[in-house]
Amino acid sequence: MSEDKRFPLIAGNWKMNGSLRESSALVTALKAGVARARHAEMLVCPPFVYLTAAADWLRGSSLSLGSQDISERAGTGAFTGEISGTMLRDVGCAYAIVGHSERRTLYGETDERVAAKFRAAQAVELVPILCVGESLEEREGGRTEAVVTRQVEAVTRSAGIEAFGKAVIAYEPIWAIGTGRTATPEQAQEVHALIRRLITAQDATIAAKLRILYGGSVKGANARELLAQRDIDGGLVGGASLDAKDFLTIFEAAAE
Ligand code: PGA
Repeated sequence: MSEDKRFPLIAGNWKMNGSLRESSALVTALKAGVARARHAEMLVCPPFVYLTAAADWLRGSSLSLGSQDISERAGTGAFTGEISGTMLRDVGCAYAIVGHSERRTLYGETDERVAAKFRAAQAVELVPILCVGESLEEREGGRTEAVVTRQVEAVTRSAGIEAFGKAVIAYEPIWAIGTGRTATPEQAQEVHALIRRLITAQDATIAAKLRILYGGSVKGANARELLAQRDIDGGLVGGASLDAKDFLTIFEAAAE
């Protein structure tokens, strides 16, 4: 498959935001806005407690539903506070974000735990969106390539390269998340190309089809130039995904 055939994905990571009423209004506006779109996929990732309601609101639309996290535990059991992949499938999720930098830095998730979550998602046919990205200190120390390589390879080693036939990677430089400071299209492209090379080294066919999203202060005003980069296949959007108008502008830039 040629790289032109990668179907763009615009994912909204709502994080810990919104109420039932606000979430419903947001989904209603997004549904109206994407009604005719056929050239990109829109995904929303609400907080866990709103997933069931969101699945209902999304019914009959082309929008997909995903979770912001997933337990690495399979099956059922005494794991207070955890949400399993089976439960996420049960309420209509198709995707699960794993290894978001906020989970890694604020909640201590290690590469190993992220890999276990990635495998847990795939075990129930949820598509994992594996987040990777360096901190400002790591970038300034010239360690971006080493950090991103370590994060990607922790998962290819654990899950196997074939697993990336049904996965998405999101490159999210930590210094660009929620800061209003976006990576330049060239900075982003450089790391996206690195990620694709890492996958190509193990399986060129899988690498050619793999969707790699950029995340970090994506908004309507900068989406077009980021999405124009050859290895950027969509966006993982935080702040701007809470504003239907801005999120739809990003989506339209991807659908062009
Ligand atoms: P942001 O968040 O768009 O608000 O920078 C992106 C993310 O954390 O996924």
